[in-house]
Amino acid sequence: MEDSDAPPMKLPRLHWLHRWSPFHERPTLLRNPSQKLFFVYLASFIACAFLLYVSSAPNASPNLADEVKPRSEVNAFRDVQPVRVSSHEPTRGNHFTPIKDISLDGGAKDPSILSEEGVKTILLWNSFFKQPDYIPPLSQMCPEYPCRVTSDRSVEADAVIVHLRDIDPADVPKRRSPDQIFTLLNAEAPPYSPPIPEVFNDLFNWTITYRLDADFPLMKRVETLYRYKKSDKLDYFANKTKMAAWFVSHCSTASERETLVSELSRYGVHTDIVGTCGPLKCPREQADDCFREFSKHYLFYLSFENAICTDYVTEKLFNALELGEMVPVVLGGADYSRVAPPGSYINVNKFASVKELAHYLQKVGNDPKLYNSYHKWRNFYQLTEPPHYACRLCARLHTIHRRRMYQDFNAYWHSNTCHGGWRKAYKLN
Ligand SMILES: *[C@@H]1O[C@H](CO)[C@@H](O)[C@H](O)[C@H]1NC(C)=O
Ligand SMILES: *[C@@H]1O[C@H](CO)[C@@H](O)[C@H](O)[C@H]1NC(C)=O
Repeated sequence: MEDSDAPPMKLPRLHWLHRWSPFHERPTLLRNPSQKLFFVYLASFIACAFLLYVSSAPNASPNLADEVKPRSEVNAFRDVQPVRVSSHEPTRGNHFTPIKDISLDGGAKDPSILSEEGVKTILLWNSFFKQPDYIPPLSQMCPEYPCRVTSDRSVEADAVIVHLRDIDPADVPKRRSPDQIFTLLNAEAPPYSPPIPEVFNDLFNWTITYRLDADFPLMKRVETLYRYKKSDKLDYFANKTKMAAWFVSHCSTASERETLVSELSRYGVHTDIVGTCGPLKCPREQADDCFREFSKHYLFYLSFENAICTDYVTEKLFNALELGEMVPVVLGGADYSRVAPPGSYINVNKFASVKELAHYLQKVGNDPKLYNSYHKWRNFYQLTEPPHYACRLCARLHTIHRRRMYQDFNAYWHSNTCHGGWRKAYKLN
C-alpha cells in the first residue's frame, strides 16, 4: 500500500480519478487510499457489467442473407456521395497491408448455405469489349467454392455481371428475386465510361472496378518478401543508352499526357513512342516481347494514365515494374504509395515544374548508383495478382453478405473523382 502522503505521480490511476471525479471539490473523501481503491473497483465493476450486457445483446440472424437488415452503408449510396464502404475500405497508414486486405470473403463461410444450394451460377449478361464468354471456367481457376459461369440467359442465376462499355440500353436484364445480385463490371476511368442508361442506374448491388471502395477492386497487390531475396542482378543501369519509352495507342486524352511528353522533350528528355501515336511499331500480339526488348535499352518508362482519377492505375505501371526493368515515371490519380513498392517509381506529381522533373530524370539517368536505387525494392517486395474477380464474387455468393445497392451509379461514378489535365491537376508549370 502506498503511503497517503506519497506524491500523486506514484498513483497515476488514482490521481486521474481524483482529478476528474465528482469528489474533486471534496478531496478529503478520497484521502484514504482504501477509499480511492474502492472507487476504482466500483468503476471497473460498472464497466465490466456494461461490456457483458453489450456483448450478450442479440445479433442479426447469422443464417440467411435475406434476413440481414440493410445497413447504413446501403444508405450511403442513396446520398449520392462518393462512398466510403467500411468493410472493404483498406485502412490507411501501413502501405502494404491494405492491399492484402482486399481478400476473398465478405463474411464467414456458412456451411448450411453451401450444402443446401451447392453450385452458384454467375450469368454474363453481355460481352467484354465485344468478347463473349470472357471469364475462364472457375472450376480450374478457383476450385474452393463451386460456381459456374454461363452466358445462357435461360438459367436461374445467383449473380449477373453486366459490363458497362457493352451495355445495350434496349437489352435490360430483369431481376428474378431480391436475392439475385446484379454486378457492374467497369475497368475504365469516368472520362472513358459512358453514363449508364437510366434503366440500369439503380440496378446494381455490387461493383467490379479499379476503385478501392469497389466490392471487388481490380488491383495488383504488393507483398513484402519476408525472406530477403538476394537478386542475382545488381546493375540495371549497364547497357541502357536511351532515356524514356512509351507504348501508347490513344493520342489525345483526358489527362493530356501527350502534352507532358512533348514538354519533357523541350527540356531534353527524349521519349521514343511505340504504337499508333509514334513512329515505332510493334504488332499487338507481340507487345510483351517488344516491351521486354525495350526494357534492355531504356532507363524510364512513362506510365502515364489517360485520366487522373482517384485510385485509377493500370497495367502501365505494373508492366514497367514487372514485365520490364524500367523505372516508371507515373502520372495518375492513384495514391502510388499504396499500389507500388516504395522507391520503385518517380511521381510527376512530386515536382513543381516540368523543368524540375526533366532535370531530375537527367540526374537519375546519369548516375548509376541513384538509378539502381530505384530497383532496390526488387529484393524486398513482389507484385502478385489477387484472385480473379469472378472467384472473389463466387466466394462472396457462398458467404453471408449484406444487402446493398447502388441507387444512382452514375452519381457515384461520375462525381468528384477526376481532375482533368495534368497541368491543372498538379499545378505544374
Ligand atoms: C549487357 O550486355 C551484355 C552483352 O549483351 C550482356 O552480356 C550483359 O549481361 C548485359 N548486362 C546487363 C547488366 O544486362
Ligand atoms: C439488390 O438491389 C436491389 C435494388 O436494385 C434490391 O432491391 C435488393 O434487395 C438488392 N439485393 C441484395 C441481395 O443486396
